[in-house]
Amino acid sequence: MKIFVTGGAGYIGSHTVLQLLREGHEVVVLDNLSNSSEESLNRVKELSGKEARLYVGDILDAPLLDRICSENSFDCCIHFAGLKAVGESVEKPWEYYNNNITGTLNLLKALRDHNMKNFIFSSSATVYGDPAVIPITEDCPKGVCTNPYGWTKSMIEQILMDMAHADSEWNIVILRYFNPIGADPSGRIGEDPKGIPNNLMPYVTQVAVGKLSRLGVFGDDYDTPDGTGVRDYIHVSDLADGHIKALKKIKEKAGLCVYNLGTGNGVSVLDLVKSFEKANDIKIPYDIKPRRAGDIATCYADASKAKEELGWEAKYDIVDMCRDSWNWQSHNPQGYGR
Ligand code: NAD
Ligand code: UFG
Repeated sequence: MKIFVTGGAGYIGSHTVLQLLREGHEVVVLDNLSNSSEESLNRVKELSGKEARLYVGDILDAPLLDRICSENSFDCCIHFAGLKAVGESVEKPWEYYNNNITGTLNLLKALRDHNMKNFIFSSSATVYGDPAVIPITEDCPKGVCTNPYGWTKSMIEQILMDMAHADSEWNIVILRYFNPIGADPSGRIGEDPKGIPNNLMPYVTQVAVGKLSRLGVFGDDYDTPDGTGVRDYIHVSDLADGHIKALKKIKEKAGLCVYNLGTGNGVSVLDLVKSFEKANDIKIPYDIKPRRAGDIATCYADASKAKEELGWEAKYDIVDMCRDSWNWQSHNPQGYGR
């Protein structure tokens, strides 16, 4: 298939492009490189022996989207492009709503104008808010998001549902990711956050590599087995595979489908630190800090729907994730060197 991948130079995008190329798909990427580097795609080429075509440009640029859709006949669009820093979204709500929502509306218009109505969207477990049930099934009602980033995901989901309802030619798969970590086992591509990381695993790897001195554990008084926050960490290569499997639903012309992509296992902050130390034989010094605003105690998936309907399930465990995160960080202490 010929696949249009927005945000394909980013963390999850580059791992997905790698798998798409390995599966024999033709890939066209659009990325403005605002949070990534062309180097990720150079390395994808090195790993796969195949090249994705890259348009450096913006989903806010409607004429460019129209041109790309005129120049290519896509079988599906996988839409990763977006801003994703939770804290920054609180500081810059307009920028987040504009980039993520206006950008997605522009993209959907260009695809619709060119009658290319197969679409896979990167959503997030954040749409469940403080989840009503654990483990979280796709039927769990969407909740109150605690930040503008989360609302952009929730609102885009609603837009997609309304569009699919109004026009049955759309085939849309909404993938709700839990907590992606890890890196391609080669250590050649991985997560390259700008500045001090907000997320747990990149913070841990930067402590391990000596760029940061100690981890702060945000709260040890949650109602969880050890008091620290519990999440469903998923290896980015498993997540990438979830997109390949989602193409099956697109081919079946199944209308709109929603899937959780998680392992189904809840792992606490201290569990993750211990797994990292064990997998890599490195000590991670940490201090218990106050709770972080907006955090919830527990979030993990019931991933059985994706298994039943897509034939997808996570293969990597937390030790693999810790090993591959460190393999990437230790071989690329400055990331891609942007
Ligand atoms: P990322 O920042 O590494 O990748 C996003 C890519 O989109 C970047 O390469 C960036 O340059 C590009 N981009 C941003 N705005 C753009 C625009 N206006 N035009 C063109 N390109 C643009 O992030 P990621 O972790 O790979 O996330 C990919 C998608 O998955 C995002 O939509 C994110 O919200 C979603 N998601 C991520 C997580 C996570 O924890 N990483 C969890 C749930 C959902
Ligand atoms: N944590 C720490 N110290 C840190 C960073 C995080 O203790 O330095 C804790 C948090 O309090 C939380 C857990 O580690 O309990 C995970 O935090 P992350 O920031 O790594 O991930 P979140 O679950 O908060 O959020 C992430 C993404 C969201 C996405 C969500 C679900 O940042 O965008 O996963 O997919 F919506």
